[in-house]
Amino acid sequence: MTHRVGSLSAIEILDSRSRPTLAVSLALEGAAPVTAGVPSGASTGTREAVELRDGDKGRYGGLGVTQAVGNVNGELAEALLGRAFADLGELDRVLIELDGTATKSRLGANAIVGVSMAAARAFAQAQGVPLWRYLTPAGVAARLPVPHFNVVNGGAHAANNLDFQEFMIAPLGAPSLAEAVRAGAEIYAKLRALLAGAGHAVGLGDEGGFAPRIDTPEDVLALLVRAIEDAGYRPGRDGVAIALDPAASEFHRDGVYRVAGQELSSDEMIERYARMVERFPVYSIEDGLAEDDWDGWSRLNARLGERVQLVGDDILVTNPAIVAEAIAKKVANAALIKVNQIGTVSETLETMRLCREAGWAAMVSHRSGETPDDFIADLAVGTGCGQLKTGAPARGERVAKYNRLITIEADTPDLPYGLR
Ligand code: PGA
Ligand code: ZN
Repeated sequence: MTHRVGSLSAIEILDSRSRPTLAVSLALEGAAPVTAGVPSGASTGTREAVELRDGDKGRYGGLGVTQAVGNVNGELAEALLGRAFADLGELDRVLIELDGTATKSRLGANAIVGVSMAAARAFAQAQGVPLWRYLTPAGVAARLPVPHFNVVNGGAHAANNLDFQEFMIAPLGAPSLAEAVRAGAEIYAKLRALLAGAGHAVGLGDEGGFAPRIDTPEDVLALLVRAIEDAGYRPGRDGVAIALDPAASEFHRDGVYRVAGQELSSDEMIERYARMVERFPVYSIEDGLAEDDWDGWSRLNARLGERVQLVGDDILVTNPAIVAEAIAKKVANAALIKVNQIGTVSETLETMRLCREAGWAAMVSHRSGETPDDFIADLAVGTGCGQLKTGAPARGERVAKYNRLITIEADTPDLPYGLR
C-alpha cells in the first residue's frame, strides 16, 4: 500500500541553546499532520552532513535557518506533495537525490532530517503502530535501552575548565527502565549535594549535567563513584557503570592531547584511559581520541577493546560508508548514532544494521542543542540497540526522551530492558 504526501511545511523555532532550528510538519493524505524538531550539535565532526545556516549576522548572529525553512516549503514540498510512497526508504531516497550533494549541503541536512523524521512518524501513524515499532527492522527484537545520564558537563558544553565533555552514569544492572531512570535521578540528586557540600557551583551545562570547576577527569570519576554509593547503588556493570565522552577532537591540536594542563601523545592518552578503567567502573569510552587519529584509534581498540566499549562519534558521524571502513580497519567496537549527522532516518537505520552485522554496539544519541522532540527514544527502542544517551535527568528537552521511554515501557511491559 502506498501513501501520498498531503502537506509539508516548516517554521523556524528555538532549540535548547536559544539557537534557531526547524520544526517540520508533514501529513499523508487523509491523515492529521505530525511534526519533528531538528537537533543541532556543538562539538561536531568535520565529516557530518551540513546544517544550512543563513549566515546573516544581523539575524540570530548568523545562525538563522530561514533558507532551510524555505527549502522545505519550496523545493522539498514541490517534490513530495501528491507523490505516493510505499515506505520511508523510498521517500528518503527522493530527498537524497533531490539534494544531490554527498553532505546534504545544498538543501541543508537540518531541512532534510526534519522531513525524514516527520515522514517516519507519518508512516507509523498510517500503519497504526507506535513509531518504535515502525522503526523495528525485520528480524530484530525491540528492547528498552540503558539510559546514559550525562551528569557532569565540560568541554564545548560548559564554561568550566574540564577538558572531558561528558561523564555519564549507566544503570546497566537495573531491573527495568523505570528503575534505571529512578537510579539516574537519585544519583543526580546525591551528586548535587556532594558538589554543593564541597563548595562547587551547581549550575548546569548544555546537556543538563553539573558544570563544576573541577579540572581533572579522575577527580570527577571519584566523585561519581561516591554519588552512586551514597544513593545506595553498586558501582559497576552489575549496578551503575560509568561511560565517558571526552570528545577528544576538541582538545587535540598539532598531534597533542591537552588534558588538565598536560600534553599527551596518543599512546600516553591510551595509557591514561587504561589506568582509568583499572581504577573506576568505566565501561564505555566515546571519542577517547580525535577524529583524525585513526592509527591511535586502532591501537586504543587493540589495547582496551576486549574490556571496554569504544564508541566512535566524531570519527564515524553515523555515516554508513565511514562505519564500514572503520569496521574493516578495527578502529572501534561501537558507533554513536545521531540522525542529523547523516541526515535521513533510513541512512541512520542502515548504519545501525552495519553495526549489528559486525557485532558492534550502537548507542543512539541526542545533540547538545535539542527540542522536546522525543524521536530518538523510539529509534533506540525500535532498533533494539540497548543504549540511549540523552543528557541529564534534568531539563525538559532531555527529560522528554526519558519520559518517552517510561511511557513505552508502561504501554509495552513485555519489552526487555538492558544492553544487547
Ligand atoms: P554535540 O555533542 O551534540 O555537541 O556534538 C554530543 C556528543 O559529542 O556526543
Ligand atoms: Zn560525542
